Amino acid sequence: MSTVRRVLLRTYGCQMNVHDSEKITNLLQHHGYQTTAELEDADLLIINTCSIREKAENQLYSDIGRLRAWKQQRPGRLLAVGGCVAQQEGDTVLKRFGHVDFVFGTHNLRLVPSMVAAALQGERETRIDENGSLDRFDLPERHPEFKTRTPGRAFVTVMEGCDMFCSFCIVPTTRGREISRQASAILSEVEALAARGVREVTLLGQTVNAYGRHDLRRAESRKARGAAHDEAETVAFAELLGRIGAIPGIERIRYTSPHPIFFDQALIRAHGELESLCPHVHLPLQSGSDAVLERMRRRYGRGEFLAIVEALRASRSDIAISTDLIVGFPGETDADFRDTLGVMREAAFVDSYAFKYSPRPGTAAADFADVVPGDVAQARLEQLQSLQRTLTLEAHRARVGESTQVLVEGASRRGGRQLTGRDPYHRVVNFEVADATLAPPGSLQPVKLLEATPHSLIGLLALDVSDDEPGPDVRRSVKTSGGRADELIRIGGVPS
Ligand code: 5AD
Ligand code: SF4
Repeated sequence: MSTVRRVLLRTYGCQMNVHDSEKITNLLQHHGYQTTAELEDADLLIINTCSIREKAENQLYSDIGRLRAWKQQRPGRLLAVGGCVAQQEGDTVLKRFGHVDFVFGTHNLRLVPSMVAAALQGERETRIDENGSLDRFDLPERHPEFKTRTPGRAFVTVMEGCDMFCSFCIVPTTRGREISRQASAILSEVEALAARGVREVTLLGQTVNAYGRHDLRRAESRKARGAAHDEAETVAFAELLGRIGAIPGIERIRYTSPHPIFFDQALIRAHGELESLCPHVHLPLQSGSDAVLERMRRRYGRGEFLAIVEALRASRSDIAISTDLIVGFPGETDADFRDTLGVMREAAFVDSYAFKYSPRPGTAAADFADVVPGDVAQARLEQLQSLQRTLTLEAHRARVGESTQVLVEGASRRGGRQLTGRDPYHRVVNFEVADATLAPPGSLQPVKLLEATPHSLIGLLALDVSDDEPGPDVRRSVKTSGGRADELIRIGGVPS
């Protein structure tokens, strides 16, 4: 029997969870583990859980139940549960499921290797201690064996936790208080990633553009008091973006998810000025009704939201804006819902993630009266999704004929000789290529857009286009791969 132990991570939920799973994988690789995509081959299965909606939580419990047989099949197999449900439920997971070996919370990723070692000795532990210090971010650099789904792209945590307490949301409980990493640690991490060929970074945080705010305020008050150590360890978010943009090799910067109330002038300006900042913002609206936003405790109204959209467009006219929406929040009337549809049209969202409200025990809204019946919420969800399909298709159609730049992910699910990737606007682009070796995963490629669907754009590698169509200048854009899409369009694009 091989002595190599293999780990499989099953991840639910948001990009923060996806990145936490990457961190755990990397840690375990540093402790001699290899990864596998096959449950049959795994010696250790870690379920990284999500509790944002009830559905995800129920899924977990049925998942764990089914794994009893897997666990018994081979001695030495371990089953662990981490993430938001683990943080919330703690010991009850171990009590309820005798075949789960250990449970770890969202602040305890660093403990996973030692918990694995203890579990191999037969110990069953739960570690969900909240950790308010920065040491939870002290994680090793990428192991030589570490691979992400898309080469050339990486997530970088800049802040974690949330102090906003929107009335529907469980995240402040599962992720704890807001904490921002030191700017120097973030910059070193990005430099190390760039040295390993990463060209696109996505900065992560529950309210990512609130980065640094508590630390900067504390430094201000230390300064006012004349304290000896008055320097902040963070910088304003827009300043952080600028510093990351100055790191050689970083050609694209994204961030998710911002909160509307932390959009300041500097961040809006950055979208017009910082070349590597992608022309896409995921800006969660949740509802277009002032009354609902108030009960959601979002701290902005529809007018303020639309003012941010307008300011972003004034700064960067081609910016693509996507959003999150909740339908069926307690008390949501037909008129409130129509307001949401109205803002969707006005903001011309290129995409949206829409959810039926799911009451989360322990949140303020869980006790709200005027529950919206399930069938009403479902009908609203469908209406909203139908409007979004129209808006997405319109946005895609307007781009047919443009040339864009795609960070290649690999073969497209559509098969044939198609590759897939994302353009600067975060749109999925599938494109034909005569020879896939011309466009390896992780490379940035010029693509001419030929067709729009509600889900993606379809194009052709511009290198493959014959000499007079769309013009030699598009090929020049290969060399200017750091350029913005609109520059590529100006250079060689064919207007639609
Ligand atoms: N019910 C439905 N959707 C929710 N979200 C957060 N909490 C809930 C809930 N209780 C959605 C919000 C958020 C996204 C990540 O999940 O739209 O932006
Ligand atoms: Fe949840 Fe609101 Fe915090 Fe976002 S800002 S994580 S929706 S509490």
